Parts: sequence; C-alpha cells; structure tokens
Amino acid sequence: MKNSWKEYWDNCSEDNSKNPQIAVQRTKNKSPISANNWLKLHKFVFKNLNLKQDDILLDFCCGNGVFSIEAAKIVDRVIAVDYATKFIEKINSMHKENIFTINKDGNNFNFAKNHYTKILFYAGIQYFDKQELTNILQRIYAASNKGTIIYIGDIPNVHLIWKFYNTKTRKSLYFEKIKRGEDIIGNWYDEQWLHNLVKYLGFRKVRFLAQPKYQINHHFRFDMVLEK
Ligand SMILES: C[S@@+](CC[C@H](N)C(=O)[O-])C[C@H]1O[C@@H](n2cnc3c(N)ncnc32)[C@H](O)[C@@H]1O
Repeated sequence: MKNSWKEYWDNCSEDNSKNPQIAVQRTKNKSPISANNWLKLHKFVFKNLNLKQDDILLDFCCGNGVFSIEAAKIVDRVIAVDYATKFIEKINSMHKENIFTINKDGNNFNFAKNHYTKILFYAGIQYFDKQELTNILQRIYAASNKGTIIYIGDIPNVHLIWKFYNTKTRKSLYFEKIKRGEDIIGNWYDEQWLHNLVKYLGFRKVRFLAQPKYQINHHFRFDMVLEK
C-alpha cells in the first residue's frame, strides 16, 4: 500500500491545470471547497496554531502548498515538505521568497533540531501507519523546543468510519479494497490511542478539536493540537 500511495500522489500532482484544492482532494462530491470555507478553514487552523510573525513553520506533507502560501503571509519562514515532486515544483514555480521546499518522504525526513516553532501536519496522517506515525512524532518531539506547537489536522476517526462508508455502494467498495489490504482513506485513528501515544512520547499538552460544521469532512474527521 505504501508504494501505491506514493504513486497515487505522484499522479495527483501531475496535472498543473487542476484547481489547487482539487489537486489535494479538498473536495465534496467532486467540487472543491468554496473560497469562503477555505478562508474559514485556514484561519481556524492558524488561530489554533497561534501563528505569529516571528514563527518558523514546518508544513509537513504540504501538498501543493495551499496552507504554506497563506501561512507565508503571516510568518517569517515556511519549510514545506512533501514526497510528490510535482507538488514541490508547483510551489517553487510561485517564487515565494519565504517558502523553502524539501522534496522528501516524511518517513526519512530529518527534522531540524530546535528550528521550527510551529508544525502543521494537515490531511497527511492517514498515509502513515501506527509504526510510522509513532516514529515521526518521536522524532518531532526530539527535535522540538519546549513550547513548539504541532497541529495535526483532518484525522480520520475510526469510530466514524461508517459515516464515510455510508451507502451500500461505498460499503462494497470498502470491502473490495479491504480484500486487497487497501482503504481509500488510508489509516483511521482513535483519539484515545493518539492521546496515549503523545503522552507516552512526553508532549505536555494535547487538545482534540471537533471540526466546525462548515468543514467538508467534519462528519468523520477531527484535529489534534500538541505542545511540547
Ligand atoms: C491530502 S494531501 C494534503 C496536502 C496539504 N497538507 C493540504 O492539506 O492541503 C496529502 C499530502 O501528503 C503527502 N504525503 C503522503 N505521504 C507522504 C510521505 N510519506 N511523505 C511525504 N509526503 C507524503 C502527499 O504527497 C500529499 O501531498
């Protein structure tokens, strides 16, 4: 499944003419999130990240940089990391002087020590299994300063899986994929499991956020904010 996610995102990033929100699949019934809801969504995330002018933000699994671009208007610097080369090229083609890109698999990414004041990991957690996620969060913890805030957004909630696979057709698709060891969403997570993990790793604070109703996936996803 891991190689197929890479292939999947490489394909998604190929077509440069796509609406940027469609390219990262922020869609409902195949339509991209509205401009107004996008405005509300990124403001909600940035408020909970407490983004400030002197922040250095790591946008982990940044996709085509839709968050990076908005954040770069506020913060000192954004470091944007993704393994899909075409997404990284797309960000580079915009020549934003305070966005620095790194084309790398998150599993092998070297988190710079005491560098980022904030980390955004949005709509990416599902592509990592429990082993990978544990290792990544451990490395984030080790690299971070006390007070670093990490926002992990759009986490598929395992207890709400049938709110997503909510029709006979979708359930059939789910089980067809399961037979091949796949899931169209990826990995589903449990709040309690994540809470225990981050406490085990040593994070001082953890908050779980329900997504406001205007967010297109609020019926089966949640967000989490950590502080070292
Ligand atoms: C749904 S998109 C979200 C992009 C962006 N964070 C956003 O919310 O607009 C998921 C992104 O995760 C990236 N991704 C998935 N697995 C990855 C990995 N192992 N290393 C780096 N990037 C990864 C994909 O290439 C894709 O760009």
